[in-house]
Amino acid sequence: MSDAALAVRGVSKSFAGAGRPVRALDGVDLVAAPGELVTLIGPSGCGKSTLFNLIAGLAEPDTGTIALDGQGAGQRLGRVAYMPQKDLLLPWRTTLDNVILPLEVRGVRRDEARRRALDLFPQFGLEGFARAYPQTLSGGMRSRAAFLRTVLAGGSLLLLDEPFGALDALTRGQMQEWLLGVWERERRTTLFITHDVDEAIFLADRLYVMTPRPGRIALTATVELPRPRTPDLLTAPAFVQLKARLLRALRDGAAPELEAPSLASDIDLVGSHQHADPLIEGVRR
Ligand SMILES: Nc1ncnc2c1ncn2[C@@H]1O[C@H](COP(=O)(O)OP(=O)(O)O)[C@@H](O)[C@H]1O
Ligand SMILES: [Mg+2]
Repeated sequence: MSDAALAVRGVSKSFAGAGRPVRALDGVDLVAAPGELVTLIGPSGCGKSTLFNLIAGLAEPDTGTIALDGQGAGQRLGRVAYMPQKDLLLPWRTTLDNVILPLEVRGVRRDEARRRALDLFPQFGLEGFARAYPQTLSGGMRSRAAFLRTVLAGGSLLLLDEPFGALDALTRGQMQEWLLGVWERERRTTLFITHDVDEAIFLADRLYVMTPRPGRIALTATVELPRPRTPDLLTAPAFVQLKARLLRALRDGAAPELEAPSLASDIDLVGSHQHADPLIEGVRR
């Protein structure tokens, strides 16, 4: 697909460990069409953040290719707006001055950057909090501030790494609806990592399920649920059916708990996942 906003093909990545190298990703294929909202779900440690680092251009894959807008070669850094797993708001900067960082880095004058950012504060639910410091904000506000900073970074592809992972269920639900509102206005191609099955389905046009490390794609599904999405969808039969499929894929891929990194790095997990060939499934209402 040459018109894909993002095409990841056969990407593998290992890290040097104390013993044997840790295989984080193994032959990952993933595509996103322009304007599509794609979610990625998998157990902790399966390489999701690693995949984002590769897509953003912070590191290079050992094998495979990553193409943005059909272009395989050249810089990825700076063409992707990346919201890392930790919100990384600087405690010594006000919310406004945190949010304008990417503009400052690009050489926009500070007063001009502040003006531009302030215009967006109401839309991001931050009105009245420009001069507040991050540590005084609620969890939801912190993630909206980090999200606004990411949006201001520009770039046609938005990478969001578990942006709502630290929020309580109620706030998380509100943030999901809010995010969909922003996405529907902007229609930026978005990749969203989560470990929450409901969230993965609720947001997505399409979703990918990953196996435990080394991360592979266990399942990809199209989510043809109507938009705008509302919370009552969570109990709709099509939603529940897809959720059962996802849970099965996650369970089938599950390996014995080997979370201690020193232990895991000495054990080759590859053999235990040989049955997890990619399934391509379209789910229709
Ligand atoms: N820079 C790194 N150096 C060494 N090991 C790493 C590095 N980044 C990630 N890893 C390892 O790669 C695996 C996948 O990590 P990560 O991508 O953070 O998983 P996830 O985001 O799915 O929880 C883990 O075993 C982790 O310890
Ligand atoms: Mg992660």
